[in-house]
Amino acid sequence: MRSVEQIKQCREIVAQWRSERATIGFVPTMGALHQGHLSLVKKSLQAGHKTIVSVFVNPKQFGPNEDFAKYPRVLDMDAQLLKDAGADMLFAPMATEMYPDGFATKVSVNGLTEYLCGPFRPGHFEGVATVVTKLLNQVQANEAFFGDKDWQQLQVIKRLARDLDIPTRITGVPIVREEDGLALSSRNRYLEPGDRAKASLLYITLRSLADEIMAGDNIDDALKAARIGLFENGFNVDYLELADANTLVPARNLDKPVRLFVAAKLGATRLIDNMAVN
Ligand code: PAF
Repeated sequence: MRSVEQIKQCREIVAQWRSERATIGFVPTMGALHQGHLSLVKKSLQAGHKTIVSVFVNPKQFGPNEDFAKYPRVLDMDAQLLKDAGADMLFAPMATEMYPDGFATKVSVNGLTEYLCGPFRPGHFEGVATVVTKLLNQVQANEAFFGDKDWQQLQVIKRLARDLDIPTRITGVPIVREEDGLALSSRNRYLEPGDRAKASLLYITLRSLADEIMAGDNIDDALKAARIGLFENGFNVDYLELADANTLVPARNLDKPVRLFVAAKLGATRLIDNMAVN
C-alpha cells in the first residue's frame, strides 16, 4: 500500500493508475477506522477500483465546544488495518496544505442542512462540504463511498457533487452494527462502560418505532413516547424524527421514502443513527 501526505503525490499516483486504465475508488475518513470504514473499502475494492482512503481530522467541521482536540488519532493502526484490507493508498494530507494561510472559501449546501443535525451543529455541514469538495477535487476518483450512518452528510455530499458538477459518483454503503445493534462509530470508544451497555437502546428504539409506524400507529404519539423512553434511560435527545429520506423534511405519512433519524447524548458522547421505515 502506498502512503502519501502531499496532494501532488496523490495526483501523480492517480495519473499513473489512470494511464494503466484503472478506475479509482475513494473513501474519505477522519481515521480511527473500524469495520464500518472497512466495509466502504471492501465495497470499493469489490467494484474493481484502485482504492484510496484519506485520513484527515477536519478542524472546520467541529464546533468550538466539540471534540476536535480529543478526536482519536491513530494513524499507524489505521495504516495497518488498511494494508490488511487491501487498500491501495493511504492519503493523509497535512492541515497546512489543506488550509494554507489565506484560505477563504466555504462550501455551503442550503435546505438539507436546515434539518436534523444542522441546528444543533452550526457550521458543521459547511466544514464537511468544504473539505469533501476539496478531497474530491484532489483525488478525482470515479466513485466515492460514504456510510449511510451519516445519512444527512451523505445527502449533502450527493447534492454538492451534483450542484458543482463534480464527476465522482457518490455511493452510500449500509450501516454496520455491533451485535446488540449499536451503529459503529469512531466515537463509540468514548462511551463509559455503563453507557455502552445502554447505547443499543437507540437502535432498539428505532427498530420498534419503525414497526409501530408501519403498523399504522399515530406518528406524533409514537415519536413522543419514544423520546420519553430514551430520556428516562439517560439519553439527552437532540432529536428523534421521521423525515423524507431525500429532502430530510419532517414527514407524517409514508407516501414517499421516509427514515427515522435520532441524535442523542449519553454522557458526553453524541450518538446518531437512522433507519428506513418503508
Ligand atoms: O464522515 C466523516 O468521517 C467525515 O465527515 C468526512 C466525510 C471524512 C469529512 O471530513
